[in-house]
Amino acid sequence: MSKPSTRLLTAGLLALPLALSIAYAQTAAPAASPAVAKVSLIDRPQPDINSLPDDEYGRLARYGHELTTRTFAHIGPEVKDKKMRYAGNNLACTSCHEENASKPYAMPWVGVTATFPQYRGREDDLSTVEERVNGCMQRSMAGKPLPLDSKEMKAYVTYIHFLSTGIPVGAKVEGSATFPSKPPNRRADLAAGEKIYNEQCASCHGDDGLGKRVGKKGDAQGYIFPPVWGPDSFNDGAGMNRLIMAMRFIKHNMPMGTNHKNPTLTDDQAFDVAGYIVSKPRPHKANLDKDFPARWNKPIDSAFPPYVDGASADQHKYGPFPPLADKARAVAAARAAAKQREAEKQAAPASN
Ligand code: HEC
Ligand code: HEC
Repeated sequence: MSKPSTRLLTAGLLALPLALSIAYAQTAAPAASPAVAKVSLIDRPQPDINSLPDDEYGRLARYGHELTTRTFAHIGPEVKDKKMRYAGNNLACTSCHEENASKPYAMPWVGVTATFPQYRGREDDLSTVEERVNGCMQRSMAGKPLPLDSKEMKAYVTYIHFLSTGIPVGAKVEGSATFPSKPPNRRADLAAGEKIYNEQCASCHGDDGLGKRVGKKGDAQGYIFPPVWGPDSFNDGAGMNRLIMAMRFIKHNMPMGTNHKNPTLTDDQAFDVAGYIVSKPRPHKANLDKDFPARWNKPIDSAFPPYVDGASADQHKYGPFPPLADKARAVAAARAAAKQREAEKQAAPASN
């Protein structure tokens, strides 16, 4: 009896380093050998689109810049050529990706060429730059995906590539995404949010949230101040429709002129006004239940079901979030432990 169990033990001991080395190979491969480069976008000079020569690359990058800042005039729902109506609203990419998509902590595209392909929980798959562009096309812009071989998609990818000049592949980029802030441990107070909105936001975005147009409806000229809800806003599947995401963006970028170094609103104010905005009507994205096929990594503030943690839709939309974050951490830890057990089992040799 003692022989086989010794053998099993030895096999187990041999299998452990093997399992570890497999796990290591899977997670550590993309991190380039010397060290991951770090780049900061804070106070980094904006790349100048006019510095590009008038060649194929320069022309496509410039068209990408134009599509980014004046999206509504080229692929918006009011353009003359019906085939070109890819976006479903009259926002510009720069309605959110401020300063030509280069402002730190306003989801800048600087470095995106270096940080994609990237795992995205929403699809539970690796996402390319093109797929990420189409993610915003179908949600933030409430529209249709751009064909991969279209001039417009190539222009976006080229502009993003141009913005990413000088950022090494795989770099860690300080200033990317949004600046973190912690949601208070309570449900968003929508009445308090409405008050803040009326005092600090309505002067630009309108009492009705519908924004202020450059010209008139149907002219494809977009907005001076974009709508924050209503039929011409981002849809309910957009990142900006998630309360924590909206809170972080608003706190560090709004009212206009704010940046992460000089926020105007407190965490509580940003939380409540973001709650007020996500409580308002907006276009609906079909098939939201198909988002996050790996339910366990669905962000806790995804404002649409299904959820796996048993908490209510209301709590996922308006908080309190810290208890949901605790649950998500527990689920992730349980998964990691199960994966580890599975890896050890796989690595152990078959019994005969
Ligand atoms: C309503 C606001 C909004 C608009 C308009 C918008 N986006 Fe985004 N975008 C976001 C948010 C929020 C994120 C990041 C959060 C997330 O979803 O993970 C993001 C992320 C991205 C990223 C990835 C950035 C990174 O660091 O990973 C790309 C690329 C992008 N958007 C492209 C576009 C393009 C192209 C357009 C216009 C066709 C556009 N976006 C319009 C809100 C917006
Ligand atoms: C002085 C005018 C002004 C004020 C005040 C202002 N915004 Fe904005 N806001 C803008 C502009 C302009 C943009 C588009 C981005 C840009 O051009 O930099 C924008 C963009 C946004 C966006 C993303 C785009 C969209 O249409 O959804 C949100 C969300 C937003 N603002 C929320 C707020 C909130 C909340 C407040 C109040 C705390 C506020 N803003 C105050 C001018 C303003």
